Formats: sequence, C-alpha cells, structure tokens
Amino acid sequence: MIKVGIIGVGTVGESVARILEENQDVISARAGAAIEVKKGIVRTLEKKRDVDIPLSTDVNEVLEDPEIDIVVELMGGVEEPYKVVTKALRNKKAVVTANKALLAYHRYELAELAKDIAFEYEASVAGGIPIITALRDGLSANHIESMMGIMNGTCNYMLTKMRDEGVAYDAILKEAQNLGYAEADPTFDVGGYDAAHKLLILASIAYGIDAKPEDILIEGIERITQDDIAFAKEFGYEIKLLGIAKKEGSEVELRVHAALVKKEEMIAKIDGVMNGISVVGDKVGETLYYGPGAGGDATASAVVANIIDIARSGKSTPMLGFDRPMEGKLTLKDADEISSKYYLRINVNDKAGVLAKLTKIFEANSISIETMLQRPGESASANLLISTHCAKERDIQKMIGEIEVLDFVNKKPVMIRIV
Ligand code: NAP
Ligand code: HSE
Repeated sequence: MIKVGIIGVGTVGESVARILEENQDVISARAGAAIEVKKGIVRTLEKKRDVDIPLSTDVNEVLEDPEIDIVVELMGGVEEPYKVVTKALRNKKAVVTANKALLAYHRYELAELAKDIAFEYEASVAGGIPIITALRDGLSANHIESMMGIMNGTCNYMLTKMRDEGVAYDAILKEAQNLGYAEADPTFDVGGYDAAHKLLILASIAYGIDAKPEDILIEGIERITQDDIAFAKEFGYEIKLLGIAKKEGSEVELRVHAALVKKEEMIAKIDGVMNGISVVGDKVGETLYYGPGAGGDATASAVVANIIDIARSGKSTPMLGFDRPMEGKLTLKDADEISSKYYLRINVNDKAGVLAKLTKIFEANSISIETMLQRPGESASANLLISTHCAKERDIQKMIGEIEVLDFVNKKPVMIRIV
C-alpha cells in the first residue's frame, strides 16, 4: 500500500483524491500497489469539499508522518510551498507538484535536493498534456531547436470567447475563474507570467537554461480589444498568447507575449482551454502536443500519473532531464535582439497631417510598414492599425517611445508581435 498526503485540497487536489478513488481499479493494477490518500491539508476546515478524506490544517501531519510515502503539493504560491517540499524531501518523501511558480524560481535548488528522491511535476506545464515526459524522455536524443505554443488555458479560453462572442474581458475572466482554470491571482494568467513559468521549466529540460521570470520578455493579453481582433480577422490571423523558445547557435531566446498567428497554422486552430505546443528536435523534426491545459480533472490526470510512476519505480529520471551539465553551455539571448514582424494600434486625433508625421517616425527608425487600416475611435479619434515588415525589438520599442509622447497620440500604442 502506497500512502499519499495532499497539501492543498482545492480545484486540483479534490480531483486528485477523487480520481484515486474512482479509478482505483486501473490505478492499482498499473502501479502494482493500492494507493490511498491518508490525509489532506487545507487552510480552513469549514469549507464544503466534494471528497471524503481526513483533513487537517497542520502540514506536519503529512510531512512528519512516517507512513506517508508521497507528498502531493497543490497549495499554490512560491515560498510557502518551497518550505513544504524541501521539508518533505529532507524527510525522504517523494514529491509531486503542479506548481509552476514554485519551479520557475526554485527548480535548480529542488533538483539538487531531490537527487536520490523522486520529484515529479508533469502537471506544472500544459495541465493534462504529458509534455514533460515527452520532452525529458521521449525526445532526449535530440538537440531541441524550438518550442512554441499555447501554454495558458485561461488566456486561450478568454481570447477564443472574445473572438467568437465579443464578450467583455472582465466577464470572461470571471467565467474562467469559475471553471477552475485561473490561478488564485489571475493576473498571473492574463499578464503572461503563468505561461512564462511554464516556458522556463521547458527551457531547463530542453536547454539546461537556469533563467528566472525577470530575465525574459513577458507580456500578457490585458490590452487586447475588439479592434485588434477585427484587424486579425481582416488579415487572416488569430490572436494567441504564445510561449516561444528558439535556439540559434549558442543562444536561446525565450519570450511570452500575445501574437498574431496565420489562421492556417496548427497553433492558430487551438481554441478554448486547450493548450498546444510544437517541439522541434534536430533528429525527430516537428512534434505537436495538444490537450486540456487547465481544469481540475485534466490537471489531476497528470498528477496521478506521476504518483503511479513513483509507486512503480521509486526514483525516476533526473528531475530536469540532465544528469550532468552539457559542455558548451547555452546562454539566454538579450530580448532587445529578438526580431519579428509587428502590429501596432495607435489611437490618434483624426485630423490632417497626422498620418504623414507618423510615417516619418517609422522611416526615421527604418521600420517599414506592410499594411494599414484606419477605424473610427471614440470622440473624434481614429485607430490606426499598422503591420510592419521584420524589425528588431530594440528599434520598435524606441519608436513606440517616440510615438507615445506625440501631442496627437491619445494613448500608449498597443503592439502585438506577428509570428
Ligand atoms: P486552489 O483551488 O486555490 O486550491 C489551493 C488549495 O490549497 C486549497 O485547498 C487551499 O485551502 C490550500 N492552501 C493554500 N494555502 C495553504 C496553506 N498555507 N496551508 C494549507 N493549505 C493551503 O488552487 P488549484 O487551482 O487547485 O491549484 C493548485 C496548484 O496547481 C497551483 O500551484 C496551480 O498553479 C497548479 N495548477 C492548477 C491548475 C488548474 O487548472 N487549476 C492547472 C495546473 C496547475 P482552502 O481550500 O482551505 O482554501
Ligand atoms: N491557470 C493555468 C492556465 C492553469 O490557465 O493555464 C494551468 O496551468
């Protein structure tokens, strides 16, 4: 009998306990042992829960219980769970977590501590999709050339609803929260940080890169409006929040931002809470992973798979996929050096000469316009919707800085990269 303690019995924790109960026939057969939840830890005992497991508010009842083999951390946050999982590892308990924020900051310290102890985290990236196993095990023969995809279910759900139903941003975010997709603090989702946490985990496995969220370009979907969606429709694009990793020589670029993706691309067809990640290896070529990126049961499916794996084998592959550092280490590319095509939405006073002054600034920054649309804005203003040819991030940012201070420009321009 394998005994499990679940720290955090919320959206995902409840599903984990329920799946272990409802699917125990197949789970025990696959694991080669029965698996039982001995205790769940919560903040408050008063809340109504959908599962019937013994509960406590004292984490030590799990961390110090010699009968508990596997600690499942599903509480969320960074420093509190870090204390919890380090104590679990020091007490020689295997750990399973779905916590990408924890791993974005502490994965290397945890890998060091977990040398001889199983530490698994499949659910931390792309919910129910087994992307960690695919990348760490299935593609381990390859140099990874690129990874690109939709890594946040909340944002993809919101962008899909904004496109299809024109629903207001705040109302859809509320819906995503009610469906259990969003983080406890949803600004992590809409601000792009959650996707960045996931990208950093994948970058460690693919490239051995030890970067923190502060080191990479992160933007969210907060400023996207129906004007941008209309432009995308008109020019054959979808708007998606993407995580992108690209290796060029000894450098790797890592970035998360909203992007215009051509409708024909596979990634553009991924809607709702679904996630999809393309991974290109030098030997295998392109591989694509698709599935539900958030939600209790989908996420718990990956958590329980890790529990089964640990029950079977005790200790699995090196936590971050490398048994020792690679020779010729890869380094992180400076975000200013990234190059892309860009879309800009600039709200201006609708009067003579404005366009001429604006295009002069484009010319002075050597940025070439590819397409342009003008739509009426509020109170005698116009929205200029402009796409550019390829330019450097440094140059486009400098140009936006020059444009936003012009007296006929009403708001900071919105920029979306075109992929
Ligand atoms: P949640 O619904 O907010 O549940 C959190 C649980 O942890 C609650 O039961 C809460 O107790 C408990 N908790 C929080 N702080 C605690 C503390 N200091 N001491 C004891 N218990 C504490 O969160 P969730 O959506 O299940 O997410 C859990 C983790 O999974 C997060 O790291 C999240 O990023 C990750 N994740 C979530 C999803 C998803 O779709 N939801 C997908 C992938 C990964 P109370 O119930 O008493 O408040
Ligand atoms: N909040 C996250 C999302 C949960 O929406 O993708 C899954 O990691």
